[in-house]
Amino acid sequence: MLYKKFGGDGPDVSEVGMGTYYDAGWIVAARMGWLRGRQQKIKAIKAGLEGGINLIDTAEIYGSEPLVAEAIAGYDRRKIFLATKVWSNHLHRGHLIRSLNRSLERLKTDYVDLYQVHFPNRGVSISETMGAMEELVDQGKVRFIGVSNFSLESIIEAKSALRKHGLAAVQLSYSLANRGIEKDIIPYCEKEGIMLLAYYPLAHGRLASARGDVQELARKYGRTMAQMALNWLISKPNVLPIPRASTEEHVTENLGASGWSMSDDDRALLEAALQK
Ligand SMILES: NC(=O)c1ccc[n+]([C@@H]2O[C@H](COP(=O)([O-])OP(=O)(O)OC[C@H]3O[C@@H](n4cnc5c(N)ncnc54)[C@H](OP(=O)(O)O)[C@@H]3O)[C@@H](O)[C@H]2O)c1
Repeated sequence: MLYKKFGGDGPDVSEVGMGTYYDAGWIVAARMGWLRGRQQKIKAIKAGLEGGINLIDTAEIYGSEPLVAEAIAGYDRRKIFLATKVWSNHLHRGHLIRSLNRSLERLKTDYVDLYQVHFPNRGVSISETMGAMEELVDQGKVRFIGVSNFSLESIIEAKSALRKHGLAAVQLSYSLANRGIEKDIIPYCEKEGIMLLAYYPLAHGRLASARGDVQELARKYGRTMAQMALNWLISKPNVLPIPRASTEEHVTENLGASGWSMSDDDRALLEAALQK
């Protein structure tokens, strides 16, 4: 596993991460205390950690924070990069602080590495939200601040609302099947040294099924389609894909996305093949 410096000179973060959003039905069941497939999911996260992944993404609404806590127990906390999110109806100062404290309890830790606003909320001033985020950084409960599902305009607003600590990361849908953010957000983040956590990196698994020309290209590198799709994301300097994998087999396969690279020509072929 290769690592990228978070924010240019921050901690080493594995270039492949792990997402832990299972699905809406899973979340509803988790709220009732039923963590479906708990042992299999924990095993999958542990397989990722054993393979060198240290970036784990969760959220207060996913219901997966307790699973993450169980999976990382026994590992050196300082080597793990834990990212979680605050839901959009908890963006007033008091709510945000309470949400973070609850996430810390569920994650069984005293800090998170990255705290992200899950979705914007126009009903709450971004200065209030970012001010609360900065308080949490000052208290040592949060290391880095991020936002998710923000437009470029909202990202700029969030960044400008921060007084002492920078905006370290943006989390958005990004994959070979969804490249809309390349025209503005990716160049902006690169220029500003902001990391981009790419969710839906496998387009919900669709990119893992091989097709014609793409299959041939994958064969040339001796890789699977999932590995090709994740490697394409990794090739961008500030991008960190966070595929969800609920089985050890998928996590192990995704580890093989790191440590090699395609030629520029083949990357272009891959892009063209998927645009057909
Ligand atoms: N910020 C946001 O609003 C937001 C929204 C959505 C998601 N996210 C984050 O992004 C993560 C990823 O998104 P996602 O889970 O919806 O989409 P995804 O990672 O693009 O796709 C996940 C699907 O791909 C399958 N898969 C994983 N590795 C595979 C492999 N090697 N071969 C074949 N299939 C494979 C998974 O199956 P198995 O699970 O059966 O292994 C799952 O069905 C989430 O878990 C979450 O942390 C954030």
